[in-house]
Amino acid sequence: MKSRTRWQSLYWKRPLDCSKDWKFEVHATDINERSIATALAGVYGECSLRNTGPYFRQKYFTAIGDKLTITPQLKAGVRFSRLNLFDDAQRGSIKAMDLIFCSNVLIYFDAASKTQVVQELSRALLSHGYFFVGAAESLYGISKEFQLVHLPSATAYVKARAAGEPQGVEHG
Ligand SMILES: C[S@@+](CC[C@H](N)C(=O)[O-])C[C@H]1O[C@@H](n2cnc3c(N)ncnc32)[C@H](O)[C@@H]1O
Repeated sequence: MKSRTRWQSLYWKRPLDCSKDWKFEVHATDINERSIATALAGVYGECSLRNTGPYFRQKYFTAIGDKLTITPQLKAGVRFSRLNLFDDAQRGSIKAMDLIFCSNVLIYFDAASKTQVVQELSRALLSHGYFFVGAAESLYGISKEFQLVHLPSATAYVKARAAGEPQGVEHG
């Protein structure tokens, strides 16, 4: 998600225009093997998709009974692996990310651990990358490396540019 166009698509919740020269990689992780297995299965009930609109439901899910299953094409673009956010070696695989989604995970950690994890994830983000946490979570008092940005349907944190980096914020 390095280009302006791509960011705008996300920003406006439009379907991404997957032009041939775009390469997307999604690295999905959790410490728990069962969570990984559930994600790999990609089978969801209605409640899980309550905020997913008709376009994405139709394009990326197949109804099987009362469940919705992720299409193999979408799953093929995701690398699933077990990862403990406190394990330096495992976390080393997360680098040069445009976006990091870390929703409802920091809530388990004490303040010092939160600070440590956020600092490490910030290092894994590209300059001006976006960090998303859960709706009820905040980086207030945890990190000063990010600036809060309000998007039409979400709140995110954008990593501050390093000193001397050129300006030109692209929020869409
Ligand atoms: C409440 S769930 C949130 C799942 C999902 N992100 C969401 O928002 O629906 C919290 C997840 O954090 C994972 N977790 C807890 N401690 C972790 C750690 N040290 N490293 C990686 N994942 C961890 C748990 O296994 C669990 O799947």
